[in-house]
Amino acid sequence: MLSLYKKIKNIFKEIISKKNITKTINYYDLGVNINSIINGYIFHKKINHIDFNYKNYFNNSFDKYGFQICRDIDDKIAHLIVKNINYFKNDILSFIGPDARLDDIYMSLYSPKDALRFGTSGAWHRDNCGHRLKLFVCIEGDGQMPTVVVPKSNVKKYKFGIREILRLFNINSTKTYGNSVSISYSTGDAALFDTQLLHRGSYEKSNSIRCVLILEFINRYKSNLISDFTPCGPGGSRNGEIKFNNSVFKILENTKLIDKEIIKEINGEYIYSINNLVD
Ligand SMILES: [Fe+2]
Repeated sequence: MLSLYKKIKNIFKEIISKKNITKTINYYDLGVNINSIINGYIFHKKINHIDFNYKNYFNNSFDKYGFQICRDIDDKIAHLIVKNINYFKNDILSFIGPDARLDDIYMSLYSPKDALRFGTSGAWHRDNCGHRLKLFVCIEGDGQMPTVVVPKSNVKKYKFGIREILRLFNINSTKTYGNSVSISYSTGDAALFDTQLLHRGSYEKSNSIRCVLILEFINRYKSNLISDFTPCGPGGSRNGEIKFNNSVFKILENTKLIDKEIIKEINGEYIYSINNLVD
């Protein structure tokens, strides 16, 4: 009984917090040029040669949805990041504008055989932060686990609507949209898309492993303001962080998309976190 009460209380808290950030998101999204990325996504095949073993970055502890996340960035991954950002840099800056920053970095490993159930990212959703770009770099994949998007569905302004409320109650939709497009990335491919597009991960058709490097780009001032209430910022929240050594920091600096306002150096270690902001 107590846990049901707690659950309902959390759902109401979630609805109120999302309503509170709607104005902020829509204010900053006025500066986004959505027409610069036609249909809301870009997909390029075979732009990377992957010459390392993704297994070295993971152990065997998958969550109940079959995922493992890694934010340990070494020189090899840092070079892959820089290469792919350079490839898409004009698109990122044209879309988000001059206040764009590299907001989060992680590698995601999905193992269908370790999944006890499907996660909510497998159902249609928007990411609840308005316009924000995600760059997926496929490190290991056979194209059977695509991200499916509804082209041009990002023209709508952000709103925490009925679909998002139903998701809080675990009522999810995977229905087929006639105009949806599967971005079927295999090893070496990369895709950039606006997470304000209606999208879903299609995990149900494959039994093979998928490993992707995910980079997020957003207006830095918007992310600083909404990161208490919705997953964004380094580490996915205001208190989240990514740690780099000096060598990785120097490599990533070449992107010019690292936000110096949120980086702090302690004894040669660089901590990238919104918590480092000085008021
Ligand atoms: Fe998503």
